[in-house]
Amino acid sequence: MSAPDDVAAIRKMAGLSTPMALRVAVTLGLPDRLAEEATAEEVAAERGLSPVPLRLLLNHLATLGIVARADCGYRTTELGAALRRDADNGLANLLHLDLAGGRAELAFVELLHSVTTGESGYARLFGQDFWTDLDQRPHLRASFDKQMTDRFRAQVPRLVAGFDWARFPTIVDVGGGVGTLLAAILAAHPGIRGHLVDLDPTATEAGATFRAHQVADRAQTTVGSFFDPLPAGADAYLLCDILHNWDDEHAHVILDRCVEALPPAGRVLVVEPIGGQLAATEFDLSMLVIFGGRERTVDEFRALAAVHGLAIESLTDLSGARCLLELRLG
Ligand SMILES: C[S@@+](CC[C@H](N)C(=O)[O-])C[C@H]1O[C@@H](n2cnc3c(N)ncnc32)[C@H](O)[C@@H]1O
Repeated sequence: MSAPDDVAAIRKMAGLSTPMALRVAVTLGLPDRLAEEATAEEVAAERGLSPVPLRLLLNHLATLGIVARADCGYRTTELGAALRRDADNGLANLLHLDLAGGRAELAFVELLHSVTTGESGYARLFGQDFWTDLDQRPHLRASFDKQMTDRFRAQVPRLVAGFDWARFPTIVDVGGGVGTLLAAILAAHPGIRGHLVDLDPTATEAGATFRAHQVADRAQTTVGSFFDPLPAGADAYLLCDILHNWDDEHAHVILDRCVEALPPAGRVLVVEPIGGQLAATEFDLSMLVIFGGRERTVDEFRALAAVHGLAIESLTDLSGARCLLELRLG
């Protein structure tokens, strides 16, 4: 028989109430509203909610320390203030159920399907894949771009300092997002010219990032798909957090496009958490359910690259959270 403590610990790990309570609280803007004390009835009347169920939610948030019971209702605690939209830490954007990150994690209800088939749970739950959804819902695209910027905010200096980017006078950033990393590389290395390829409106947004970093004279953007031919002849093709979003079939097409564009001495630079090394197991499951992707191990990357005549030249731990795999032809 299991120890009661073990049973309790596993029940706590397995419970869905707490993650969903936090996400619903953010979606309803409760941490913002309860900066000023209010009763469940008042908040329910303001937001068109049912007062009794709202009280159940607030009571669980009080158990968690996100709100505190006050004389006349509830108010947000210091801990709960981290979930306010103005907290500027990325959490509210990440957890809101109608923004890209929170919506995507709902795909975990399809984990069984993903583990059974290897397919994305997101596509099964929402009827279309993550990127199509973002194309059709601009607010999801905007929140995803913000999420990408937030996740790298602290890491970018280490990603830039951790590798000798100056070896590559021209870099194509394939799926470069809003250009945060490329702008920082260009700012640190006045000898490098960059060319970012991404879908719109993200690629257009990257133009603004380059202007803000005063590197626009050395940075070009192309609105396009990395499943189509890429700008040819650059010294390096950077794939930062791209391949883990795709199954092997799609990852092969992306690498094909890079190799077609690559001159003989060029390099493909893959920046990702490497499976079994830096990748968090929890995050690996997110890649599976959201995209049908995964954090590949070095051996998996070696096998993937070999199909395209690419070999691993070096492996660098850039930031403790991202590795850089340098791939060369031959
Ligand atoms: C996980 S984000 C990484 C963005 C950026 N490389 C970074 O590290 O911040 C993946 C990027 O791939 C882009 N993407 C998805 N499908 C694409 C496609 N078919 N062609 C070009 N870019 C695409 C997305 O718009 C997004 O910016």
